Amino acid sequence: MSDRLDAFLSQNGFGTRSAVRQMIHFGAVKVEGRTIREHGHLVRGRRVTVRGQEVVELITSATLVLHKPLGHSCSHDPAEAPLVDELVPEAFRHLSMNTAGRLDRDTSGLLIVTTDGPLIHQLTNPKKHLEKRYRVVFSGVLSSQAVNRVAAGLQLEGDPKPTLPAELVLDGTNAEGLGTATLLLAEGRYHQVRRMFEALGGKVERLHRDRIGGLDIPADLPPGAMRPITETELLLLHGRSAGSGGLAKPVAP
Ligand code: URA
Repeated sequence: MSDRLDAFLSQNGFGTRSAVRQMIHFGAVKVEGRTIREHGHLVRGRRVTVRGQEVVELITSATLVLHKPLGHSCSHDPAEAPLVDELVPEAFRHLSMNTAGRLDRDTSGLLIVTTDGPLIHQLTNPKKHLEKRYRVVFSGVLSSQAVNRVAAGLQLEGDPKPTLPAELVLDGTNAEGLGTATLLLAEGRYHQVRRMFEALGGKVERLHRDRIGGLDIPADLPPGAMRPITETELLLLHGRSAGSGGLAKPVAP
């Protein structure tokens, strides 16, 4: 909550600073039932009314955790609907939020949606070396050197530089006879996992991200659910906790 009356009114939808100062000056605003004409009046924790109507404080920032379902796009373009934006709970719809990186429409999994630009930078800048874990179901036969090639960095078509060294574990074969693998990446290039598997001779059939930093996709979030991140989860996200890390036992995507 903003401390000053003018900032408080402005942030809660009553107009620009100069407009709300006029309202205050002309006696339209009461704090705890008393008309206040001083725009710098401190209002933290107090009841504010404008022409008798109580001012309900709007949320001004938020970081949400989403289990992105298959089929939704991270774009803001309505032509790309259905959008991740449509999954944002009503209480946060007025905020200007972005995803920290993107998942493809046909990728499911953990995604952070936030108003916090520096947090997006922290989660997406490869220099921060924050690992994301992908569970992959693939067809085709991978090059025998796949694990070593991924560890060394793969040259992807059209990219000026090889990928950063990453960790690939070939987990086995599923009931459909498709290969299953886990990939830990510290960067997020366009269609990176799909392109890496292509470069290795395979084709991604299903892709699911189940961990960012030290945060696993929360057990209470079914596909499509989005809610505010907790303090503990935020710490885990930055890898600042005793989270298990690394290549835990795979969960079928
Ligand atoms: N890599 C991809 O190819 N797609 C995603 O959605 C995420 C990583």
